[in-house]
Amino acid sequence: MKKLWGGRFTKTAEEWVDEFGASISFDQELVLEDLEGSIAHVQMLGKCGIISEEDAESIKKGLQVLQEKAHNNELEYSVKLEDIHLNLESKLTDMIGPVGGKLHTGRSRNDQVATDMHLYLRKQTVQVIQLINEMQNALLTQAKAHVETIMPGYTHLQRAQPISFAHHLMAYFWMLERDKERFQESQKRINVSPLGAGALAGTTFPIDRELTAELLGFQGIYENSLDAVSDRDFILEFLSASSILMMHLSRLGEEIILWSSQEFRFIELDDAFSTGSSIMPQKKNPDMAELIRGKTGRVYGNLMGLLTVLKGLPLAYNKDMQEDKEGMFDTVKTVTGSLKIFAGMIESMRVNTGQMETATKNDFSNATELADYLSGKGIPFRESHEIVGQLVLTCVKKQCYLADLSIEEFKEAHPLFEKDIYEVLNPVTAVQRRNSAGGTGFEQIKLALQKAEAKMN
Ligand code: ARG
Repeated sequence: MKKLWGGRFTKTAEEWVDEFGASISFDQELVLEDLEGSIAHVQMLGKCGIISEEDAESIKKGLQVLQEKAHNNELEYSVKLEDIHLNLESKLTDMIGPVGGKLHTGRSRNDQVATDMHLYLRKQTVQVIQLINEMQNALLTQAKAHVETIMPGYTHLQRAQPISFAHHLMAYFWMLERDKERFQESQKRINVSPLGAGALAGTTFPIDRELTAELLGFQGIYENSLDAVSDRDFILEFLSASSILMMHLSRLGEEIILWSSQEFRFIELDDAFSTGSSIMPQKKNPDMAELIRGKTGRVYGNLMGLLTVLKGLPLAYNKDMQEDKEGMFDTVKTVTGSLKIFAGMIESMRVNTGQMETATKNDFSNATELADYLSGKGIPFRESHEIVGQLVLTCVKKQCYLADLSIEEFKEAHPLFEKDIYEVLNPVTAVQRRNSAGGTGFEQIKLALQKAEAKMN
């Protein structure tokens, strides 16, 4: 098969060399974007009188037939034609004759592929934002149902202070809100047109870059043709935002794995999001949460991969840049899949409220309440901390908890302790009263839920 760029060659590459250099096995994912970009380009060529309106029209019609076929999955590609751009151009010419060869006037595959990538990521970013919303809604729904569900809050994975389960879930809501903002923020840089930059230096044809940008819904054009064809920052931004998002999902995944263990038994995942063991009949494994925790690694890898590909590349296009695609496609698949799974998993999980509450009672996570109690009565906090520390030690020796001590024992530790101390030690009261801004107090959570809902509308 003759190469579309074969003019100056006297010898053809061996098949395996062609195969090694080809990107069609993965860049066929860009078929619709490539056709969309070509249609805008050819319309512009016609409007600017660079080719006749008639030729432009017949090329456009041919491209629309290809669009139709692409939608119906009817296109077959050849490795010999290297990539999606050359495959489509060749199909066009097969269909409408040599006039198809006019499509590439004033354009290069370098600005063409950059345009495709911008169009592709623009679409995918919208989808990712939508899926983040869905996961946030799942978190909100569970949080609303569990404002008064008490659980131990942890630092160092040691029980620290009791909190509301809603408050814990909402922490992830706000992480996702920042993730969403990062994707939204990146949209303004995705939405810029590289089309018309040519191979690297622009073109001698009187093209209208603003027109193609407008036809493609871009908000502006790259100012510099060299930058336009060599910029992959927008992909790096997508991969960075995705890495941070996956890190958040991985942390939640880890908690879900812990919570569904026999040691915690705080939640039970729905069967639809768990798997069994081929040998141990009793097992119900949180596979999906584990897998997402694991997949976080590949997204980081994709980010590091592309950063490394781009590092030290001279301007402008280099074939190295063909390596920008697989990691991007893989990240889109991983992130969208993970968000969908998580939304379903959160929504359908059962919360073992009794077990959570019991966990807040059989421990010392109410010790801070006791120290705050004394400090509320004028004792310097450091002193209160010391006194309560001694009381905890007494309990450890007696093998009991703070609420089990008698009022005499409390008074012995400090005369300012009164009978109301038992109410203060109640974990529910402890949570309820933490009403500083952003705290776990019920009033604060209700406020936070309102704010969160307002964000979702
Ligand atoms: N398949 C190529 C890529 O993805 C398209 C651009 C090729 N340009 C070139 N001058 N070889 O990067």
